[in-house]
Amino acid sequence: MNALSLDSVVLADNQKEMIILDQTLLPGEVKYLHLSRAEDIWEAIYTLRVRGAPAIGVAAAYGLYLAADQTETDDMDAFCARVREKKDYLNSARPTAVNLSWALNRMERVMEENRDRLSVAQMKDRLREEADAIRAEDIAISRSIGRYGFELLHHGDGILTHCNAGTLATAKYGTALAPVYIALEEGWNDLRVYCDETRPLLQGARLSAFEMQTAGVDTTLICDNMASITMKRGKIDIVFVGCDRVAANGDFANKIGTSGVAILARHYGIPLYCCAPSSTIDLSIATGDDIVIEERKPEEVTEMWYKQRMAPAGVKVDNPAFDVTDHQLVTGIITEKGIAYPPFDKAFARLGIK
Ligand code: MRU
Repeated sequence: MNALSLDSVVLADNQKEMIILDQTLLPGEVKYLHLSRAEDIWEAIYTLRVRGAPAIGVAAAYGLYLAADQTETDDMDAFCARVREKKDYLNSARPTAVNLSWALNRMERVMEENRDRLSVAQMKDRLREEADAIRAEDIAISRSIGRYGFELLHHGDGILTHCNAGTLATAKYGTALAPVYIALEEGWNDLRVYCDETRPLLQGARLSAFEMQTAGVDTTLICDNMASITMKRGKIDIVFVGCDRVAANGDFANKIGTSGVAILARHYGIPLYCCAPSSTIDLSIATGDDIVIEERKPEEVTEMWYKQRMAPAGVKVDNPAFDVTDHQLVTGIITEKGIAYPPFDKAFARLGIK
């Protein structure tokens, strides 16, 4: 089995529920969940059953369509008010990945633009089409990022990645790991991928290593604190990471630990690329200081994955889920429209990113 064949989130054929792969059970168990209630979709996003910025966006779009579809009224004002309520609710599931609000705003815009010319029944169809479009576009975007990233690779390269920005984090192919899938399609079989395990939720160990190994890639798992020696030993030629939100100046938020990897990469003279669909670039914020960092439960650090609690009772725990990498540490930002090099504000404009 190749993880590339697993769909992270799709709409069921009956169009009344969405099907997500429960990523919390991987790699041990491949289990799909059929969800239709907004509460269950919120829970799936909050608990990271579906995760990764683009996949969260797709799940939210389908979640809003399903909420709209379940709204029983022929009155357009009442319908729109109800859908907006559900939009705010779904948007509260996680704060850092901009794709969540981006997808929900896009759905709301479609509703506002069409409310005077469609019936409620037609509007439901239109919202489903928009959610389908968001998913289809995400696949094309990931492939395009993969193409640009592939151009940066050389035979035999060692690639370090942090967290999971692979196929499971998107509708398909991923962002940071998409170049590896393109390389495989091109017949390359000599790339080496190093996956940081990514404490505390282990997305690198459970998901990235799973994706790469099942794709037949030479895959090595390391603990987060082994990145330095792995770089020093000359095993890493390039770092590809994903991101949850990019500010106008190129600062970007990604899974906790990414900024440390970037500092190390700079120290060892290794290029670091952030792989980002243009929907992840949030030009409304000037710098990374404006990005809200999600704080999560202490138990993820002290108990999760362990047979028994691994910290003294009552100890204080910080558990920020993301950190911000300073733009000065970023070699380039790979988007589906091309690669942005510093100064990033000018590069975004040149690539037509608004
Ligand atoms: O908390 P997660 O697992 O949703 O965090 C995911 C990441 O940080 C990814 O690197 C990011 O969302 C990019 S996914 C293409």
